[in-house]
Amino acid sequence: MKPCVLLIEPIPAWIVDRARNEFDLIVLQHETERPDELTTRFGDIRGIAMPGFARVDDVFMKLMPNLEIVACFGVGYDGADVEYAVKQGIAVTNTPDVLTNCVADLGMALILTTLRRVVSGDKYVRTGKWVSEGFMDLTDSPRGRNLGIVGMGRIGRELAKRAEAFGMAISYHNRTERDDVEYPYFSSIIQLANACDVLALTCPGGDETRHLINGEILSALGENGYLINISRGSVVDEDALVKALLHRKIAGAGLDVFADEPNVPKPLLTLDSVVLQPHHASATVETRTDMGNLTIDNLLAHFAGIPLLNKVA
Ligand code: 8YV
Repeated sequence: MKPCVLLIEPIPAWIVDRARNEFDLIVLQHETERPDELTTRFGDIRGIAMPGFARVDDVFMKLMPNLEIVACFGVGYDGADVEYAVKQGIAVTNTPDVLTNCVADLGMALILTTLRRVVSGDKYVRTGKWVSEGFMDLTDSPRGRNLGIVGMGRIGRELAKRAEAFGMAISYHNRTERDDVEYPYFSSIIQLANACDVLALTCPGGDETRHLINGEILSALGENGYLINISRGSVVDEDALVKALLHRKIAGAGLDVFADEPNVPKPLLTLDSVVLQPHHASATVETRTDMGNLTIDNLLAHFAGIPLLNKVA
C-alpha cells in the first residue's frame, strides 16, 4: 500500500504527477483549505510535502496523529513548526544545494537591475519617453561598490562570487565568523550597513531573524545605499522599508520576498527606485524540478527506512 502524503502547492505539475505515482496523494492549493478528502483522512497521512513557507504549525500537525515526516520544497523551512515536529519525532527535510545557483543568480540580477535601473529603462523606452524626453538619467555602477551580505551560507557565498565578477568588494555578517571565507566580517549588522553600499539578505527566515533590518539599519545604509532581499520578507520591517524608500533615506531596493505574499505594500508598486519579483529566485524549470525530485526522494527515503538526504531535524 502506498503511504498517504499531503502535498501543498505550489509545486510543479510534473512533480505532483511523480508524487501521485509514488504516494496515495492528497493535494491542497493552500494549507488553509479543508476539503472532505483531507478532513476524512487526517489519520492516514504519514507525510507532508510543502513549500518551506507554507504555515504547517503545531495545530495543523496535531490533526494528523500518524504524521512521520514533513518534507519542505525549498531550502527555507520557516513555515513548519520544527520545534513541535522534533518533540513529536516527526522528521523535517529541505532541498538545499540544488537551488543555490539560481537563487544567487537572481540576487545578482536584482543588484544589476536595481542599480542600473533596467526596469525603469525598459519602461522609458516602451512609453516613448526616450523619444519625447531624450536620454534617461544616469544610473549607478556596481563596480567599485561594497556589497554587504547578511548570511554567509551557501547562497551568500555564491552571490559573493558573482558580485566579485562585477567588480564589487564583499563584506559580511553571519551569526558566527566563517573560517572558510576571506571577506571582512562584521559582528554587527548596523556596522555592516554603515560600511557597505548594497546590503543583500541571504539569511534564513523565522523568529530569529524577524525584522533584523529595521529603520535604524536602513538609516545606516544611507541615501546612496540599496537593499536586496532574496531571503524572507519577515527579515525586513516592511513599514520601515517603505518609509525609507518614500523619503529617499535609501537609494533603492530589489525585492523578491515580502512579509505578506502575494500582497506587496502599495507604495512600492509606484516607486521607480524599486525592482520587484514574485518570490522567484529558485523559479526556473531546472531548479524547481530538482527541488521537487529531492522533496520526493526525501519522502521515499523515509518510507524505505534509509537515511534522509536532507534532514534538518
Ligand atoms: C521557493 C524558497 O520559492 O527555498 C526557499 O526557501 O523560498 C524558494 O526556493 C519555495 O520554496 C517554492 O515555493
